[in-house]
Amino acid sequence: MPLSWLSWKLTSLTRLAGVRRAGCLILTLLASLTQAEDILSFSANPDLDASMVRSGYRFLTPETRSLQDDDFANPGYLWVDQGRQQFHDSGCNACHQEGALTGAATRYPQLDPELGLINLEARINQCVEDRLERPALKYESHALLSLSAYITNLSKGRPYQIIVTGAAEPHFTAGREYFFSRRGQLNLACNQCHDDNWGRMLRGDKISQGHPNAYPGYRLEWQTLGSLHRRIQDCDTGIRARPFPPGSTEYTQLELYLAWRARQLGLESPGVRR
Ligand code: HEC
Ligand code: HEC
Repeated sequence: MPLSWLSWKLTSLTRLAGVRRAGCLILTLLASLTQAEDILSFSANPDLDASMVRSGYRFLTPETRSLQDDDFANPGYLWVDQGRQQFHDSGCNACHQEGALTGAATRYPQLDPELGLINLEARINQCVEDRLERPALKYESHALLSLSAYITNLSKGRPYQIIVTGAAEPHFTAGREYFFSRRGQLNLACNQCHDDNWGRMLRGDKISQGHPNAYPGYRLEWQTLGSLHRRIQDCDTGIRARPFPPGSTEYTQLELYLAWRARQLGLESPGVRR
């Protein structure tokens, strides 16, 4: 029985009709009938519908929102201020004038001809190593977080400007695959929480759409500022999957997909989160 053909047919029909949810449901039923997991991968455009994109900010309590909104109360600004200071003290400003890096954070992750796909942290480290001739700053170190928070904050309110086609496409595809792959002892994929269940409560958290635009961000639970990769590690750990190290290719590819998925949103760093 050409079930896979049937499901493909249904998919294209539902895609035409724009009935994505119904399509997914039918496909799920078919998949359980045939136990063929790969049928699920046929589901019509499973990416978050662009018109539904909501910043994580919208899922916060009023108290946490007002903490983020107030530049004096928002603890993330301690890192932004120290980053600005460090930018001068380390001699970054010998080549980059004050404010010259405005907008830079919106263009990462991006492809570098030598380093491959890199995020902002890796770009900063390239300057530290090659241009200041100092050892690279460690991921999640105070120094790297401060510099990345300062530089990201210069792009506050601007949308992402990343490139996901051409030579970047394999990275984008890998990041997207990560997002839709089940993993960990709980056998869950990112999309099962952040596409399918946003707005619902999970252990005291309101599940958001899982956007990257608040990071580097201050998490009350961490009692400190952290990178996006640290936040992703927490999600991977939550489903009992082995997290990748911050700065890894896997997480940088995922970051590229997340930035694309959040492309209408403005950067908010430093966000404040529970
Ligand atoms: C079991 C459900 C679940 C899964 C699976 C999950 N997350 Fe999360 N995630 C959460 C919860 C809960 C939070 C904290 C509340 C919120 O912002 O959604 C969160 C937060 C986030 C945030 C921060 C959003 C913000 O605005 O601060 C990002 C980014 C994120 N997740 C990405 C991912 C990625 C990438 C994966 C897959 C590797 C993943 N999540 C898997 C539940 C999940
Ligand atoms: C000797 C000169 C020099 C020094 C010192 C230097 N940089 Fe750079 N930096 C460059 C050049 C050249 C580029 C690539 C051209 C560009 O984008 O401006 C660059 C690029 C960057 C970018 C990417 C800009 C973009 O638009 O993509 C960032 C971010 C950056 N540098 C941060 C830093 C930081 C942080 C420091 C200090 C730790 C630093 N740089 C020190 C010369 C320097």
